[in-house]
Amino acid sequence: MTDLTITSVSRESRIFKPPAEFKGQANLGSFAAYRKLYAESVNAPEKFWARQAKEHLLWRKPFKSVLRWKLPHSKWFSGGYLNLSENCLDRHLGTHRENKAAIIFEGEPGDIRTLTYRQLHREVCKFANVLESLGLKKGDRAAIYMPMVPEAAVAMLACARLGVVHTVIFGGFSSEAIKDRVNDCQARLIITADGGWRRGRIIELKGSVDRALPNTPSVEHVIVLRRCGNEIAMAAGRDLWWHDLMARAPDLHKARAHESETPLFILYTSGSTGKPKGVLHTTAGYLLGVTMTTKYVFDLKDADIYWCTADIGWVTGHSYVVYGPLASGATVLMYEGAPNHPEPDRFWDIIDRHGVTIFYTAPTAIRAFMRWGDDYVNRHRLRSLRLLGTVGEPINPEAWMWYHRTIGKKRCPIVDTWWQTETGAIMVTPLPGVTPTKPGSATLPFFGIVPKVVDEAGHEVPRNTGGRFVLTRPWPSMLRTLWGDDERFKRQYWSELPGMYFTGDGARQDKDGYFWIVGRIDDVLNVAGHRIGTAEVESALVSHHSVAEAAVVGRPDDLKGQALVAFVTLKAGIPPGGALKEELRNHVAKEIGSLAKPDTIRFAAGLPKTRSGKIMRRILKEIAAGGDVKGDTTTLEDFSVVATLQQAEE
Ligand code: WTA
Repeated sequence: MTDLTITSVSRESRIFKPPAEFKGQANLGSFAAYRKLYAESVNAPEKFWARQAKEHLLWRKPFKSVLRWKLPHSKWFSGGYLNLSENCLDRHLGTHRENKAAIIFEGEPGDIRTLTYRQLHREVCKFANVLESLGLKKGDRAAIYMPMVPEAAVAMLACARLGVVHTVIFGGFSSEAIKDRVNDCQARLIITADGGWRRGRIIELKGSVDRALPNTPSVEHVIVLRRCGNEIAMAAGRDLWWHDLMARAPDLHKARAHESETPLFILYTSGSTGKPKGVLHTTAGYLLGVTMTTKYVFDLKDADIYWCTADIGWVTGHSYVVYGPLASGATVLMYEGAPNHPEPDRFWDIIDRHGVTIFYTAPTAIRAFMRWGDDYVNRHRLRSLRLLGTVGEPINPEAWMWYHRTIGKKRCPIVDTWWQTETGAIMVTPLPGVTPTKPGSATLPFFGIVPKVVDEAGHEVPRNTGGRFVLTRPWPSMLRTLWGDDERFKRQYWSELPGMYFTGDGARQDKDGYFWIVGRIDDVLNVAGHRIGTAEVESALVSHHSVAEAAVVGRPDDLKGQALVAFVTLKAGIPPGGALKEELRNHVAKEIGSLAKPDTIRFAAGLPKTRSGKIMRRILKEIAAGGDVKGDTTTLEDFSVVATLQQAEE
């Protein structure tokens, strides 16, 4: 492959067998069992999925067909009726789980609250009644812009109960980002809070919503949870307090059954063009994907205290904080704030105090913990932990080893789980107790998943050769389309390599068939575990009145995986300077959110372009990384641009 920009240099050879003790108690405890089930899942997929769907989900009316597949559109479990919120809540009532903790919440200031399944069910019923009283009905869209508090899960589950499609917007996004998303899906309602706690400070969520509202005509009401008590504006008639509405709401709500393909949520994610993509997931297939993976990948048991540190604003928060674990009857720990508040040992302190047994986090967080130092970890015992997981980006073997030794005390298996917003659930992963692990590899496919590494013509490449990472079979939790843009859905995922789903990632497969994902090969960067489209940051920069043109590329970064470097050409007569750099960084924060702030801004008189006017990003990447410009530059229109760029100070 010539155009694969990411080449894998890792030649990691360490192997870790599942500890015997873990194996003995695992939900799936042998490699032979995995092989057998996997073989069945790919040889007789419909039979396999039908059995799993009956076993794992609670149906009101059985489905008529398992899969209707007209590439790239799928319908799973057609004719079946169920209610997702009933699957997560009502089904546990009247069982030993009724009074079990569903959510143990710890706020950043230290406030702790526990909701049992019975209590959570009651809150969700009440909130579903609130939504109905505001006229929300099946098929309507509602946006959720909240801190990590139990009410965020209540809002999601109440929407799901009614068939109201939710779109959760990460609390770190700005009012511009809220506006774009709300307008794209025409949300009738925004559910938010006065604020949320982060590093001892209040993130003013309602303030951001207020700044978006003049430009979001579809929004009829805003429901506001009082979390921080900060002063906010409430527009009479439009803005309603959560506690006022809940005080009046009846606490019983009869869930109606919805057809399997009823839209469940839209989650916006970065693509290689400026506009975020509204990934659409539907009910039954998604729920099956997240429930099965929760059971097998996290080896979930009733006694576990399970903690996934992701925010509900990302897909991991949807699938593995809310839907997968609650459908499985887990006790979920939810923490509101920063990992280093008041001190860098907050996570380890939480694990010891609550007896967390399963811990799932991101490599970027692990690298931060490493940098803060082992002393913070070693203040705590971490004896309760039995399983560790990672997600979001490739984990470098050094960080894997640190996680294994310092957090897992060499006792806990690590599951490095590869998946995406689009896949809904984990696709490639070790099963703890089953799969020998290699630091840095997500190992082998989950049931029913058939990934391949192919060249640009779609042919499988030999082992240990880099290529495009594709999924060759439909799976129940796959995205159904992009909201309002089916053409883009086809173009983005299904046109480059006909007949297969293209993930946008590069990978190689080693001699044992293990997959090593090396990262994105399109113009999407992975910064601190979050996908950021360079085009989005570029269009934010260009929206500033001083900027003529901008190109954003990634540079390797020890902590964040990748850092954002922006090359900016100013309009004629605008003087460059440090103050303007800061202004531009803040402008991006305002347009998108702090997570997309460029780490470095370099002013440039011109950008390297081909004769046809395309910016040559490869060259900018090389300059950003501080290296020489190598490779072919013959298509470059004007080489002096490159020389000037190299001389320009950072
Ligand atoms: C990357 C997050 C390597 C990958 C669930 C993917 C990973 C993108 C891993 C999806 C992993 C996620 N190893 N890379 N274990 N997990 N990625 O949509 O590039 O926010 O395409 O979903 O993260 O990011 P998204």
